Amino acid sequence: MVKNFNLMKIKNITCIGAGYVGGPTMSVIADRCPDIRVTVVDMNADRIAAWNSDHIPIFEPGLDVVVKRARGKNLFFSTDIDASIKSADCIFMSVNTPTKTEGEGAGRAADLKYIIACAEQIARSAQNHTIVVEKSTLPVRTAEKIKEILAKNSKHTFDVLSNPEFLAEGTAVKDLENPDRVLIGGENPEAIAALSDVYAQWVAKEKIITTNVWSAEMAKLAANAMLAQRVSSINSLSAFCEATEADIDEVAKVLGSDSRIGPKFLKAGIGFGGSCFQKDILNLVYLCEHYGLTEVAAYWEQVIVMNEWQKKRIAQLVIKKLGGSVKGKKIAVLGFAFKKDTNDTREAPAISVCETLLKAGAEVVIFDPKVSENQVADDLLHLSSQPSQFKCVNSASEACLGADTAIVLTEWDQFKSIEWLSIALKMSSGAWVFDARNCTNHTAIRAAGLNLWVVGKSNQSA
Ligand code: UDX
Ligand code: ADP
Repeated sequence: MVKNFNLMKIKNITCIGAGYVGGPTMSVIADRCPDIRVTVVDMNADRIAAWNSDHIPIFEPGLDVVVKRARGKNLFFSTDIDASIKSADCIFMSVNTPTKTEGEGAGRAADLKYIIACAEQIARSAQNHTIVVEKSTLPVRTAEKIKEILAKNSKHTFDVLSNPEFLAEGTAVKDLENPDRVLIGGENPEAIAALSDVYAQWVAKEKIITTNVWSAEMAKLAANAMLAQRVSSINSLSAFCEATEADIDEVAKVLGSDSRIGPKFLKAGIGFGGSCFQKDILNLVYLCEHYGLTEVAAYWEQVIVMNEWQKKRIAQLVIKKLGGSVKGKKIAVLGFAFKKDTNDTREAPAISVCETLLKAGAEVVIFDPKVSENQVADDLLHLSSQPSQFKCVNSASEACLGADTAIVLTEWDQFKSIEWLSIALKMSSGAWVFDARNCTNHTAIRAAGLNLWVVGKSNQSA
């Protein structure tokens, strides 16, 4: 085993996976560490071509500027995976870990096929002692599996570290440049020190937390589960507020002003989406069941149950308020991404809401400032009986033309200043606005003569 600290100095990073985690993370590392050469590789040639173009494949505020600053200097995007592994002293695994769709643990356990393929590829091509870093969120004890694959398939030596990423989409650059903490789990203090040195080039040392590898893997799952739990908790209370005279904004303000609770992640809405929360909780539930912790599994599963309920309940409420049927009715969907400031639609609540409406026979017209028409088609085509049942347009105003209702499903900033007065003139008489994100100008909507329903509020019109 190589134990010489100098040999552990990281000079050449390869990241396998140029997605929402790998792309932004490596761009910021390259930008902050000019002495380190960073190469991001992916088997998806189109994605790599986009990273090398003026239209990077991910919309993330500020990311294009960071990429332009470092690309071609010490940041490279390539499809030559083997060559890049060969030259690396540190390899990040940032490949996707979706929920398994078949076999043992289907619907719950994380599918590790991409991670396993990646470990095999590293074992085949690595030339020297290499630090392998788990960046993707992985089930607890995956590092052990990675180590086994590396030991079995390579004559070289490896250190495996867990360095889960905490960035949130929409604020990725800010989160990476100024993280709350950086977590590094591992066994070999020299490898941990080498990776800490990379982050220490721009992150204060006291923010770099080191743990054993299992705690790091577990902490990432737990952090996502606790965040999702807050969203489900406030959403459960939103339904309670609607049934009473209470107001979710007022309740959240009171809760958030308790320093033990804190104000963040208390925004009621249509439910959480994104590639992490649901997947990680399902994975946690699966692992709890595996270890015989039935009550613990049931506890966390309820966070998902509540999230599904919120999406269904609001979609059904739209149908109810429109007289019990939306067959042939025109519905404007404002916002399709799972949150603002991203073009990501993975597990977007809008998909579930559109599914209910399309199945009930509605005609759905979608406007999202960043999600492409192709992406919407990918997400919805298999859910509608005819492709003509939904379409995308280029503005909120166009979506509302002739609509019986508008539903706000993503909290894009531009929706705060929609000109409801002029839009109302184009909508059907008696039209509704459902603000499932509590992000629009309610006074303007009411003043325009539209019926309004807002998540977590009582006194709804009509
Ligand atoms: C999350 C974690 O925040 C991040 O640390 C981890 O690395 C990946 O998973 P992300 O899914 O990108 O990040 O976004 P996040 O801001 O956490 O939002 C997740 C979902 O919860 C979104 O659909 C968002 O709209 C919803 N949400 C969040 C609410 O409905 N209310 C809130 O108060 C906060
Ligand atoms: P995340 O949100 O976790 O970043 P993404 O799906 O956006 O997930 O990105 C993961 C990327 O990893 C994809 O672009 C995919 O093509 C890539 N990938 C998966 N497995 C491999 C592999 N074995 N070699 C190279 N790239 C891979």
